[in-house]
Amino acid sequence: MRILSGIQPSGAPHLGNYFGMMRPAVELQSKGRCYYFIADYHALTTADDSEQIRQRVKEVALDFLACGLDPAQTVFFRQSAVPEVHELAWYLSNVTPMGLLERCHSYKDKLARGFSPNHGLFAYPVLMAADILLYEADLVPVGRDQKQHLEVTRDIAAKFNERYGNVFRIPEPDIRDDNATLPGLDGQKMSKSYRNTVEIFAPEKEFRKKIMSLKTDSTPVEAPKPVEGSLILTLARCVATPEQIRQMSDSMSQGGRGYGDYKKQLADWLWDYFAPQRERRNEIEAKPGYVEEVLREGEKAARLQADQMLQRVRAAVGIA
Ligand code: ADP
Ligand code: TRP
Repeated sequence: MRILSGIQPSGAPHLGNYFGMMRPAVELQSKGRCYYFIADYHALTTADDSEQIRQRVKEVALDFLACGLDPAQTVFFRQSAVPEVHELAWYLSNVTPMGLLERCHSYKDKLARGFSPNHGLFAYPVLMAADILLYEADLVPVGRDQKQHLEVTRDIAAKFNERYGNVFRIPEPDIRDDNATLPGLDGQKMSKSYRNTVEIFAPEKEFRKKIMSLKTDSTPVEAPKPVEGSLILTLARCVATPEQIRQMSDSMSQGGRGYGDYKKQLADWLWDYFAPQRERRNEIEAKPGYVEEVLREGEKAARLQADQMLQRVRAAVGIA
């Protein structure tokens, strides 16, 4: 089985990225051949500071490695190390109906947030389809916000196969129901674009301060607190045991303790959960050049696969 996913270097990875995509991706490493990459071409659709992009590629790569990505098992690379992905995107463009892209929520959301409509934003899902089809992925671990992009990929692959014969595998999304859309500090989806994130590797003071700023209602200390839809419990479920969760929700329903106590408990659980990752990150940081070396090795393996696949696609479309 082939497993593939990408993350944009648009900022430091946060809890939503971790529980929605990075943790499932790391767990899947023993289940098949994995291709994970830093989607720097995709980041260009919303970021234009070239130095920042270069820097963030390295930082996100470091964070992913610290979170358990194992380069001995997984091909880990920069998307832009294989620019041929654009050649495939072009072949795919010619079987992609406009309507398919016009319906994409992420495109409409970006326009609603004030981005001017340009071709990069519009064609984003075609490039993503090219990522997935070039490496012949069977399974793509992602958060729920990417579900529609996976459906677009499947449609494009089917259209291409219909026209040119059975060239592409049809990929399946792997979306974990429990953490598919982790809420952020304000209760909306945690996302870099909403400034409501908790970065996995934020310094301790900042990490705890952010958790303490989680949005809660104004229930007085002595009164019972609602457990249904509680932001504190939702985040706690990612890391605490069922018994710990039961105790916390019982205590909330009884009343008598303020939200601050529960937030502090949550901050402790989360901070402790990431202790091994922080340690690994320090180890990697102490090896200069390590991250670059991993990405260079990954590039070789990615390129090999991409070259083989493109030969087949070129032959199918009549360019070769
Ligand atoms: P962001 O939305 O913060 O810009 P990305 O688009 O870089 O994050 O997402 C990288 C991966 O993390 C994707 O698979 C995405 O679905 C997942 N992801 C992002 N935010 C969340 C969230 N709040 N809950 C679950 N998964 C998420
Ligand atoms: N669009 C994804 C995101 O914003 C990143 C991405 C690019 C990706 N190419 C991909 C994810 C291919 C999975 C497969 O999170």
